Amino acid sequence: MFKNLVKVESVVKSFGGLKALNDCSLEIKEKSITGIIGPNGSGKSTLFNVITGNLKPDSGKITYNGNEITNKESHDLFHQGILRTFQIAHEFTNMTVIENLMVVPGNQKGEGLLYALMNKKNIEKDEEIIKEKAIEVLQFLKIEHLRNERAGNLSGGQKKLLELARTMMVDAKIVFLDEVGAGVNKTLLNDISDSILKLNQEKGYTFCMIEHDFNFITKLCDPIIVLAEGSVLFKGSADEVKKNEKVIESYLGKGVKK
Ligand SMILES: Nc1ncnc2c1ncn2[C@@H]1O[C@H](COP(=O)(O)OP(=O)(O)O)[C@@H](O)[C@H]1O
Ligand SMILES: [Mg+2]
Repeated sequence: MFKNLVKVESVVKSFGGLKALNDCSLEIKEKSITGIIGPNGSGKSTLFNVITGNLKPDSGKITYNGNEITNKESHDLFHQGILRTFQIAHEFTNMTVIENLMVVPGNQKGEGLLYALMNKKNIEKDEEIIKEKAIEVLQFLKIEHLRNERAGNLSGGQKKLLELARTMMVDAKIVFLDEVGAGVNKTLLNDISDSILKLNQEKGYTFCMIEHDFNFITKLCDPIIVLAEGSVLFKGSADEVKKNEKVIESYLGKGVKK
């Protein structure tokens, strides 16, 4: 069995009087595709934010590979391979797909002016290496045909694939995906599933994903963790989740897409 890559222990995060996370404890195993489900407002996004350094927990502990990361900043975690996808920022929509990959932080050795003045040749070489890597990533995800398309022109699903592509530019260890399936058509959702599986199996990525589409999550994820009111209600395989009384009552009964 694989070891715990991320461990969340008794984490509390309040907003005013509301405990968005209330004594929340869970583990994410290395090389798993762990799913997180739960009703709206159950703390899913807050959980991602505290793990990835976008919010500081009030109390509790988070470890990564056995090392405490509780109050680390997101850019620091990013460099350790902990990534959270965000929607492609507005300023990048005018750039092409390949340019979006080439500007992922951590790849730009040639950023500093001094470095630029002293190392013109090296910069050109670095750029060539980064470009080659970007092309490899696009090939891996089978979106090479979109290479020169402006990011702003991509469909919702294609943008999600570009977000995944960006994680490959920095060799992520674990990727947190918040509702990748939202507003994506069936065909592209299948492409995204395939890419997630391929990254998991061939590159050893660990995934943790929040998803509303119950079919999508049960196909991809094992285990599935069910959150309710800021803590873990249940954890198990897709079949176990579907059969569990507490889950049906708190979540599946309340109009989730089946
Ligand atoms: N930045 C914030 N400020 C105030 N309240 C917040 C903030 N973020 C989340 N919340 C509240 O915390 C609870 C959990 O939110 P969230 O983690 O986004 O839930 P989920 O992603 O499961 O829908 C909700 O009641 C939400 O309104
Ligand atoms: Mg959310």
